[in-house]
Amino acid sequence: MLNERERELIGKAVEVRERAYAPYSRFKVGAALLSRDGRVFAGCNVENASYGLTVCAERVALFKAVSEGTREFEAIAIACGKGPCAPCGACRQVLFEFAPDLTVIMTDSEGKEIRVSKLSDLLPEGFGPGSLER
Ligand code: THU
Repeated sequence: MLNERERELIGKAVEVRERAYAPYSRFKVGAALLSRDGRVFAGCNVENASYGLTVCAERVALFKAVSEGTREFEAIAIACGKGPCAPCGACRQVLFEFAPDLTVIMTDSEGKEIRVSKLSDLLPEGFGPGSLER
């Protein structure tokens, strides 16, 4: 069901998850974002003693990509703990800005259990750039 590129993406998400800075929640997350030009941008969650300043893995990956000049994406793999987890609402919104049709691959810390969804299904009727034109 998954192609080679997507399996590679899962491996990268599992790998970068180990670099998560999560001393408060102890919940490590890794994300790997595949751009249309074939590059992979990886991110982990980075927590802070001022808890609300924590940034999720998905947004770290996205902001890295955009700041490197990449704005078109095909898929993201997200690696969580014991089982796959879906991206939080804030990350869904931030990803929707650039890639409403994004394929979202969710997996556990070992990349074994896998769920696949579309961002547009996880965030139906999302508010995006086009919404400002109405
Ligand atoms: N977290 C993510 O990195 N991505 C998500 O989509 C959900 C939550 C992080 C934030 C925090 O560091 C920890 O997981 C627990 O919420």
